[in-house]
Amino acid sequence: YVIGVDLGTSAVKLLLVNQNGDVVQEVSKDYPLIQKKTGYSEQNPIVWVDQTVAGLSDLLNNFDGSREDIEGISFSGQMHGLVLLDENNEVLRHAILWNDTRTTAQCQEIYDVIGEDRLLEITKNPALEGFTLPKLLWVKEHEPEIFAKAKKFVLPKDYLRYKLTGELHMEYSDAAGTLLLNVSEKAWSKEICELLDIDTGICPILVDSHEEVGKITSQVAGATGLSASTRVFAGAADNACGAIGSGILADGKTLCSIGTSGVVLSYESSNDKDFQGKVHYFNHGAPNAYYTMGVTLAAGYSLSWFKDVFAKDESFEELVGEVGSVPAGSNGLLFTPYVVGERTPHADAAIRGSFIGMDSSHQRKDFVRAVMEGITFSLNESIAIFRENGKNIDTIVSTGGGAKNENWLQMQADIFDAKIVKLSSEQGPGMGAAMLAAYGCGWFDTLADCADAFLEVTREFHPNRENVERYRKLFGVYQDVYGRTKELN
Ligand code: XUL
Repeated sequence: YVIGVDLGTSAVKLLLVNQNGDVVQEVSKDYPLIQKKTGYSEQNPIVWVDQTVAGLSDLLNNFDGSREDIEGISFSGQMHGLVLLDENNEVLRHAILWNDTRTTAQCQEIYDVIGEDRLLEITKNPALEGFTLPKLLWVKEHEPEIFAKAKKFVLPKDYLRYKLTGELHMEYSDAAGTLLLNVSEKAWSKEICELLDIDTGICPILVDSHEEVGKITSQVAGATGLSASTRVFAGAADNACGAIGSGILADGKTLCSIGTSGVVLSYESSNDKDFQGKVHYFNHGAPNAYYTMGVTLAAGYSLSWFKDVFAKDESFEELVGEVGSVPAGSNGLLFTPYVVGERTPHADAAIRGSFIGMDSSHQRKDFVRAVMEGITFSLNESIAIFRENGKNIDTIVSTGGGAKNENWLQMQADIFDAKIVKLSSEQGPGMGAAMLAAYGCGWFDTLADCADAFLEVTREFHPNRENVERYRKLFGVYQDVYGRTKELN
């Protein structure tokens, strides 16, 4: 057996997985967001550790086998969150999370000092409020007494792993989201540190995601029931683990995951393609591989907003079930899903959504379909960027809430003009973490072999030519709406 731990934003999820890739136990423990001011989003790292230890203990309590049979454990984690440690590796303040937006001024400072082009050359990504470096600069400026004591910074799952093993590391896939890593060279950027007056000593040792970094401490073994011989592997960022857990492990493999936010992510074997920062370009959890990624901030969130306001008493199934009778194009109604701003391709926190083309004959189901289409158009903007830059996208694995409904899966095939495949099990990042442990333990020669053994395609959806043409025209209109509505607020 192996354990995959997914340290998320609202909860930590733990999966116990056997050698066939079956999930035999599953535990989830939640924790709150701390939001002291608008735009602030923090969590207490100690609570992550306590909840994970409690989760591991529950997992072991319900496990009939011998604890020695649990060979390895690895991690998936929410990206970008800043955890600052003092000289004794004690936490100095609450972690500032990926969805905290207080750092607009620091992003500007990064552009002013490094230069936008140079930043892109080194880090392959633009300066976004959510990333780690702007948070580090914020603490330096606003909490200098804390910054002065900071001897290391790590990301959320790295801190958790440290508390389970006593060993402190960071791995490339999460380091890629800090804006301090030279992504192609897989090394901390001395240039960025020097220009921003950050001591490079604050950056931890880097390892590969499948690397064994230690064993469970006897204290944690005692508290959880795990054996102290359990091997611990570094793990990866949640999006990298999501990619692994969906088999995105070779060129040409692409994932669409529609949850609260939506992600389109594509494998990349090259370390130096130029996407002009329009999509994220991060190190993968698979050795010496990369992935490109676009994010729709309000994907499932747009639909739950609509349901809360207009169909509170109905279930998602009822609401989404209605749209099968509405033709592609929602009888002329078009929606842009910017209800909390947008990330890819606009990186615009202020833009707001719209419904256009309303007609007195429209019914609620037309609006629901338009919302689903608008979310899918937004994700298609990321796919369009991949294609414009020479990537071949003909098959997409679809996961998350957006893969639960057949109408939506067919809509993805028609809007993306690609074959959509659905997997039998959708454990996403937690499964990716378990697969890193399985690979690290030597169960398979490669992660791709592990994916072949653990993951199975159960459904396929093929593009309908007539709908593809209809959507191609509408997508052009959709893309124009952003510029036309920018002045609204
Ligand atoms: C990725 C990002 C989010 C977090 C969520 O850039 O900000 O997907 O990783 O955990």
